[in-house]
Amino acid sequence: MKLQKVCAVSLAGLMLLALTGCGGGDKKAAAPKDGGKKLVMYWGALDDWMAKDIAEFQKDTGIKVEAVRMSSGETIGRIKAEKANPKASIWFGGPADGQIQAKADGLLEKYVSPNAAKIPDKFKDKDGYWTGVYVGYLGFASNSKLLKEKGVEAPKSWQDLLKPEFKGQIISANPGSSGTAYTMLATIIQLKGEKDGLAYMKELNKQMKNYQKSGTAPARLAGQGECMVGISFLHDAIKYREEGMKDLVLTAPSEGTGYEIGAVSIIKGGPDQEAAKKFIDWCLTKKAQEIGQTTGSYQFLTNPEATPPKQAAELNGTKLINYDFPWAGAHRSELVEKWDKAIKS
Ligand code: F6P
Repeated sequence: MKLQKVCAVSLAGLMLLALTGCGGGDKKAAAPKDGGKKLVMYWGALDDWMAKDIAEFQKDTGIKVEAVRMSSGETIGRIKAEKANPKASIWFGGPADGQIQAKADGLLEKYVSPNAAKIPDKFKDKDGYWTGVYVGYLGFASNSKLLKEKGVEAPKSWQDLLKPEFKGQIISANPGSSGTAYTMLATIIQLKGEKDGLAYMKELNKQMKNYQKSGTAPARLAGQGECMVGISFLHDAIKYREEGMKDLVLTAPSEGTGYEIGAVSIIKGGPDQEAAKKFIDWCLTKKAQEIGQTTGSYQFLTNPEATPPKQAAELNGTKLINYDFPWAGAHRSELVEKWDKAIKS
């Protein structure tokens, strides 16, 4: 815990040095098993999981890790900006859409881990540029107290979000910065087609209270009573409810919802490629995949040998669309631009 408190501080826009050796109490760090290597990582899942993962990875391998938590759009932006002189070697987490775009942009290094053999094909890149580590479902996190005050029911469909009672009461993230919000945009376009999908997003824009940078924020803000409905991955809403936001109720759209494959990949030309490969090998193991749930990250897992969090069971039965990852990744920049134009018009 001490280590997490010291390390798991989120510094927006700055490199968070989540130094696993910074707690002072970790004597093993003084005698690294792996020759004092250091791995720099861009992390797309939650901070507390990041701190625990890097502490465990260092314990197992002796490799020190520096990590920063960023939303998907930020990570792509940073990796692009650093292309000539990459600072990080691993991109962990965030919906695979972003990594599919990064692969197409020549920003990733191919690596087929021996441990990827256990991961079903549907959760990994056919060319070996990224491998799925977790799966999350998109949905609505509503505040039951606010709903009750207004005498309204939690939304049960994408269409419900356009009801007058939700005007100014919905928070989402921005698809440009957030992998979660891009999953929503790509889901809507896949459900409705581009023209009707963008028309829907334009109508939804009129219902919004605001857009956040990260996709985890809408569920948290709904839990805090800042809005009636937050659009987030549902495992994040379960975490916040478990941490005390008891008014949160979870629903999923009846038309079907999109989902993410949270992926890991190696950044092309990044330092310490050998250490990066070791991290990928490690994070695909049963043991490593089961770490997230110990810090409240309740995604489903991609390694069939890993035990999924029991908290995720309430999401079984969610109606999913047949989310087209290659399409979503290939059209990311273009769709974000079109969305931006649509909501401003
Ligand atoms: O649990 C955190 C999480 O929802 C991940 O499941 C997901 O990959 C990531 O955050 C998306 O973050 P963002 O929307 O900020 O890019």
